[in-house]
Amino acid sequence: MAKITVIGSFVADHTARVDRLPRTGETVLGRSFHIYPGGKGVNQCVAAARLGGDTEMIGMLGGDENGQMFRALLAKEEISAERVFSSDKPTASALVLIDAGGQNCICVIPSANYEFGFKELEQIDGIIKTTELIVLQLEMRLDVTEEIIRRAHGYGVGILLNPAPAVKLDDDLLKLVDYLTPNEIELSVLTGLPTKTNEQVITAAKALSMRTAGTVIATLGEKGALIARSGAVEHIPGYRVNAVDTVAAGDSFNGALAVALTEGKDVEEAVRFANAMGALTVQKAGAIPSLHTKAQLEDFIRNNKTADDHFP
Ligand code: RIB
Repeated sequence: MAKITVIGSFVADHTARVDRLPRTGETVLGRSFHIYPGGKGVNQCVAAARLGGDTEMIGMLGGDENGQMFRALLAKEEISAERVFSSDKPTASALVLIDAGGQNCICVIPSANYEFGFKELEQIDGIIKTTELIVLQLEMRLDVTEEIIRRAHGYGVGILLNPAPAVKLDDDLLKLVDYLTPNEIELSVLTGLPTKTNEQVITAAKALSMRTAGTVIATLGEKGALIARSGAVEHIPGYRVNAVDTVAAGDSFNGALAVALTEGKDVEEAVRFANAMGALTVQKAGAIPSLHTKAQLEDFIRNNKTADDHFP
């Protein structure tokens, strides 16, 4: 049985590079177009696998060309696809725009991802019971994801929830999550608080940590991450690198975090490791293509220092 079970999305990322993101009603000319394999679920699973994590991927694909492409990818990465189900709906697609600074905005059409329902959930109940850590995002149906969280918690299995894309979640559910990893936008949506300044991020992370029995790890890009537990926060600095494409940086962070935690590292050490993985990811284009291996990550950590930032 895999130690890390990712239950999540597959998305074909239709990606255009632009000098700047268009305003409402504006058309801009792009510089390039690519279709990359992506989707928060599979990005996190492949990131964990490339770092040597013992992983399994669970989700839903269409029987189309993109579905076949993802099945081939999982086979190449030696990730079990035994519980990747097939749907009549197409594999999910996304429109991704990336500006000259590597920043992105994304729209995902869920298609097959939303076909993973309670019938499939019954078929993976035995896996939920026996894995060590369940890794979830919010690109699948929320009602199904909530039930997975309730079951995993009931079975005493660890839960890492990356609450992306952002939605409000009930306290009853947040209480069951062991590790919650919002970025600044998701932190703001979850708490209803502003997160524009460092002080505001600290306040919001503290507030969110009071609503869960677990650990909040707020990801802050090159500023690193903030660990918040029971109203107390600790800053783990990040790396200043040249970002060409920030897509999947959060996902690689979560994949790395899952690996480090299941290897028995403490949260601080795990977040240091995950920060480095995120910093590597932003230096390469594409979602899955930007996910580095364990050897590359160790090399990066050996040769780079974290930014000497004070937070706030
Ligand atoms: O987190 C990045 C991912 O979000 C992209 O690969 C895109 O598919 C969206 O799901």
